[in-house]
Amino acid sequence: APTRELAGRTVVISAGGTREPIDPVRFLGNRSSGKQGYALATVAARRGATVTLLAANTSLPAPAGVTVVPVSTALELQAAVEVAAKEADVVVMAAAVADFRPAHYADAKIKKTFGEPGSPEADAAPTIELVRNPDILAGLVESRGVGASPVIVGFAAETGDEQGDVLAHGRDKLARKGCDLLVVNEVGVDKTFGQDDNTVHILRLGSSHVVDAGPASKELVAAAVWDAVQEIL
Ligand code: C5P
Repeated sequence: APTRELAGRTVVISAGGTREPIDPVRFLGNRSSGKQGYALATVAARRGATVTLLAANTSLPAPAGVTVVPVSTALELQAAVEVAAKEADVVVMAAAVADFRPAHYADAKIKKTFGEPGSPEADAAPTIELVRNPDILAGLVESRGVGASPVIVGFAAETGDEQGDVLAHGRDKLARKGCDLLVVNEVGVDKTFGQDDNTVHILRLGSSHVVDAGPASKELVAAAVWDAVQEIL
């Protein structure tokens, strides 16, 4: 029988990428497929946890025994995380959250042509004003201790020419965000996003020790993340 190291634990995982609507047919989005978040949910359920997966715009089958809550925008994800975190022993923010959203939503599709056809402004391009989204992870860390105090895990997608750059950025980010663990992955157009394999470096707050996982399947990477979480629990 598998070891049920997370039996009796409640975990919340966000996965996928938020979409920030511009008008009824357009949005600002990102390349996150949700595969790493789903793998985290699959492994946690297998280890006996009660798992809630907050899924932002994913098209993957629900993992066995996992409660999937669909969300779309960063604000919807934030509301869902805040509710679910109250009961959680662990919160893992694997979702790619848009840092900005359009300041104004257009109720009707934005037209390609402005003013009168042939007029001077007809070929102009619109400007889409953006406003900042809240940093959900930072908010979780801030409100910790007011009631439940889950272990909080962040992800960091870093691009860098050298692995040293990627780790240095990761350490800065861990210190800034104040979460317990930061899972750093190197990203690029052909790396990580939508792929079945991943390579990560797991950093722990207050420790110089780094756990490297991969290149390996996203499930093996997920197992390494849960091993690190279990050391803290
Ligand atoms: O700062 P950066 O976006 O690289 O941090 C990534 C981590 O922060 C991820 O865990 C992501 O889920 C989380 N995040 C968030 N809210 C945002 C942006 C990122 O929770 N607005």
